[in-house]
Amino acid sequence: MITIDKENGIFHLHNAQVSYVLQVVRDRYVLHRYWGRPLKTFRDSSPMQAIDRAFSPQPAAWPNERTFSLDVLPQEYPAYGHGDYRLPAYEVRLANGTTVTELFYDHYEITAGKPKLKGLPAVYAGEQEAETLHIYLKDSQGKLAVELLYTLLQDSAMLTRSARITNCGSEALDLTNAASFALDFADHDFDRLNLYGGHAAERSLERVPLMRGVQETGSRRGASSHQQSPFLALARKDAGETSGEVYGFSLIWSGEASFVTEVEQFGTTRVIGGINPFEFKWHLGAGEIFQTPEAMLVYSDKGLNGMSQVFHQTVREHIVRGKYQHELRPILVNNWEATYFDFDEEKIDNLAQSAADLGLELLVLDDGWFGKRNDDNSSLGDWFVNTDKLKQGLKGVSASAHKRGLKFGLWFEPEMISEDSELFRAHPDWTLHVPDYKNSFSRHQLVLDLSRPEVCNYVVKAVGDVLESAEIDYVKWDFNRHLSEAFSAALPAERQGETKTRFVLGLYDVLERLTAKFPQVLFESCSGGGGRFDAGMLYYMPQTWTSDNTDAICRLSIQSGTSLVFPPITMGAHVSVTPNHQVGRVTSLQTRTLCAFAGDFGYELDITRMSAAEKEQVKKHVALYKKLRPTLQLGKFYRLLTPFAGTKNETAWQFVSEDGKEVVVLYFKTLAEPATPIRKLQLTALDADAEYELTDYLPAQRTSHDFGGEKSLDMKGQVFYGDELMYNGLGVEKIDTDFAAYMWVLTKK
Ligand code: GLA
Repeated sequence: MITIDKENGIFHLHNAQVSYVLQVVRDRYVLHRYWGRPLKTFRDSSPMQAIDRAFSPQPAAWPNERTFSLDVLPQEYPAYGHGDYRLPAYEVRLANGTTVTELFYDHYEITAGKPKLKGLPAVYAGEQEAETLHIYLKDSQGKLAVELLYTLLQDSAMLTRSARITNCGSEALDLTNAASFALDFADHDFDRLNLYGGHAAERSLERVPLMRGVQETGSRRGASSHQQSPFLALARKDAGETSGEVYGFSLIWSGEASFVTEVEQFGTTRVIGGINPFEFKWHLGAGEIFQTPEAMLVYSDKGLNGMSQVFHQTVREHIVRGKYQHELRPILVNNWEATYFDFDEEKIDNLAQSAADLGLELLVLDDGWFGKRNDDNSSLGDWFVNTDKLKQGLKGVSASAHKRGLKFGLWFEPEMISEDSELFRAHPDWTLHVPDYKNSFSRHQLVLDLSRPEVCNYVVKAVGDVLESAEIDYVKWDFNRHLSEAFSAALPAERQGETKTRFVLGLYDVLERLTAKFPQVLFESCSGGGGRFDAGMLYYMPQTWTSDNTDAICRLSIQSGTSLVFPPITMGAHVSVTPNHQVGRVTSLQTRTLCAFAGDFGYELDITRMSAAEKEQVKKHVALYKKLRPTLQLGKFYRLLTPFAGTKNETAWQFVSEDGKEVVVLYFKTLAEPATPIRKLQLTALDADAEYELTDYLPAQRTSHDFGGEKSLDMKGQVFYGDELMYNGLGVEKIDTDFAAYMWVLTKK
């Protein structure tokens, strides 16, 4: 709901979860006044105080009012150049060379629901589900206009923000920075949380004190990246997983994002998020508009889990679209770690037979089926089947899967091109490249220039033709290098700063067209694992391959970190072989399986070569997963313990079914320790007054020598009240083995 106090210029966006207040002062400036726990009404119990701050200039209209300066005002979309020395939300360069403009409040509008953002992925909501406040700002000299969009979802602590910038002047201008949002906190008593990493090591959580000066989290790689996720949170020092105040931000953008915090001289904090302004320049002709990507802003007074619940709910109900939004995802087998490039029709046929025998549901043929691709040196761009490997073409492998009751999926990497490809020989200028300079290669490949419509059209046609050529139920859409030499042969000099942004917009156009044309296909996005795990991609493709690292122990941190923003149903998670191909670790089949249960479950190893005993175990796991799948995929997810905090040696995740009846708890202990207390695992979000029966229990599987002596703590059949499970906790039996994994299933009586 949006309440307006016209006399005082106060706009109060509120519901039962959150309040967000902004105020227009002196008919000009849009200030940030409050964001946090819901307020009945905002009457300004802590009014702004007029203080004379030296070296903080006065705006031209109030030259003698030494207590009034933009330098100290909390602002919603600050400019630079009129005495606010903090970082601005936007920057322009006008035709005469100046970077100075000033935005004044003009008018507002409130609309039901949420407007679509042209060409961009965004939160969607019906007229009954949200309300949007539009604040219109105009430059005092009429050079530009900005519309700030604020949407509050009904009954959710989710607020979205974006900005639409129009050049209202008669000459072109350059937009060199266009944040999605900015806002100022009254203090800096926060920890700063971000998700950092690298290939095969995505999304570890870093929590450091918010520091004076500027701290930035961002990507300059042309993609949202493995290195720094488009996410930031500010948490009060006492905030943990289940209690305390947290402010979370995530950008719905698959290109370069940036989140900046600036703690300034008086100890207040400015936060700015949006497209990374580094090298960004959008040439805005007279009358042209630039729409920024959308940012999600979450307030939680229930710690990090509270924040994650709001993100998860939004991603599931207001970002992911299409057939698979609420549908259970199939259990797959992927041939990548099973065969790499070395496969033929017979091998894939055998894989399909084993998959069917084990109860799997989808066979995915990964890289290597097209052109003459037998390694990663060639053929990207040549999206036609290699009949040397697959004698009966895609129809043959697809039929081999389907006749065994499996769905069939296929790998693509459509944004890329190999120098050794027919496509490159026909269109060498279709790559991103800079005149006079040679291109850098990464995995021997170059990047197609998706800022060009004809290249996008080619991609839509090439992929579309393949999808029409055989029965294909699933697509894995990969992106295996970052951008370099980001220059487009099709853009004039003054528009080169748009190339990386236009690349992402081109990709979105391609994805919109393909997903609309093939609504029955389940798309999974991938970028060398989770290099583009962001809400933008999830708008088109409901799941993402979380990491190329399939080691269960590494995955505990990768999946825990990813879950800060994204729910398990968006995360591909596979059981692979041991020793693990990325880190060489040996873990039990049960540990690998339970870790992969916490995502879109599948197998990525040569299942044809498993021993009879392993196959029996896999059949049991698959049957168990099918039984628990509605809870694991569609239920609510909570982190109880993560490798980022506490002992750093334990991870525990809890799932509660939509109806609250089934609870699945997974617990992992990385290294065995000789002298530690017995773990009591305190559950969360249960009904304190309800009884829960322990209906299933998997103790850890020993991989090392069993010293004997310990008794199993199998309490199956016992019934506990929710309060005891939450406050006293579930006892974990001690086992002297590394990489132990346990599972409990509780059923509400
Ligand atoms: C990327 C993906 C892998 C696999 C390979 C194929 O690395 O993340 O899962 O598909 O490409 O080349």
